[in-house]
Amino acid sequence: MKIAFFDSGMGGLSVLHHAMRVLPQEEFLFYADEDHVPYGTKSREAVQQYVAEAFDFMISKGVKAIVVACNTATSVAVPVMRERYDLPIIGMEPAAKKALDLDGGHRVLVCATPITVSGRKMELLIERVDKDHLVDRLALPALVPFAERQEFDSPDVRAYLAEQFAPYDFRQYSALVLGCTHFNYFKPAMRAFMPDSMHFVDGNDGTVRELIRQLEARNLREANEQTVEYYYSGRRVADEAELARIGRFMQQLDRVYGL
Ligand code: DGL
Repeated sequence: MKIAFFDSGMGGLSVLHHAMRVLPQEEFLFYADEDHVPYGTKSREAVQQYVAEAFDFMISKGVKAIVVACNTATSVAVPVMRERYDLPIIGMEPAAKKALDLDGGHRVLVCATPITVSGRKMELLIERVDKDHLVDRLALPALVPFAERQEFDSPDVRAYLAEQFAPYDFRQYSALVLGCTHFNYFKPAMRAFMPDSMHFVDGNDGTVRELIRQLEARNLREANEQTVEYYYSGRRVADEAELARIGRFMQQLDRVYGL
């Protein structure tokens, strides 16, 4: 049985990319809701509806677990999906706790989509982990369409980041938390604005660890030849040009993770 990875678009590939390395004997299904990306600037109700449709599709494929490789969808829709379906559903939230645990003395900047940074889930997370008021939040919605266009380090991307980062003195920060899976592609472009003492923190390894924990708890690990099926909003991706597009995202992730 397959493990599904779901995102509004191609950001979730960064989590799949990691899972493919640590789970070499599992079969994967990747669902990008390309018809509706971006989610982060839409209404919560609209996103809940899109996620419900995507779940119906993935469940119809008989998957054994679903990783919601999207902080935005997790923030607004995962609790309802967990009530509806009895299979492991692993969500993502910005790794603010991990960043504070690594260095509790400096500030931490959480970058995510507008829905995620202003959502109730984020408020609860901050209340729980940010006792010393060290966490700042920044929405970077324009990075999602840039990522979808595979524009990872263009002059426009750099100008956007320069403008958005201008109010922050990064010497006071220990970490930049990537609270949107689409943002992983921009690590090289962001790095240019950050002092060496500042690190990236993302939730990809923690999410895959949680997936493994839940698979093992239910005895769902398998030893198959690794395969991946890609879907754009329920349509199987078989076209050469589209598969080549996915290949270019994977190449950027190889670069980003230094392989
Ligand atoms: N990749 C998504 C996330 O992690 C959301 C991007 C979007 O559709 O706005 O939040």
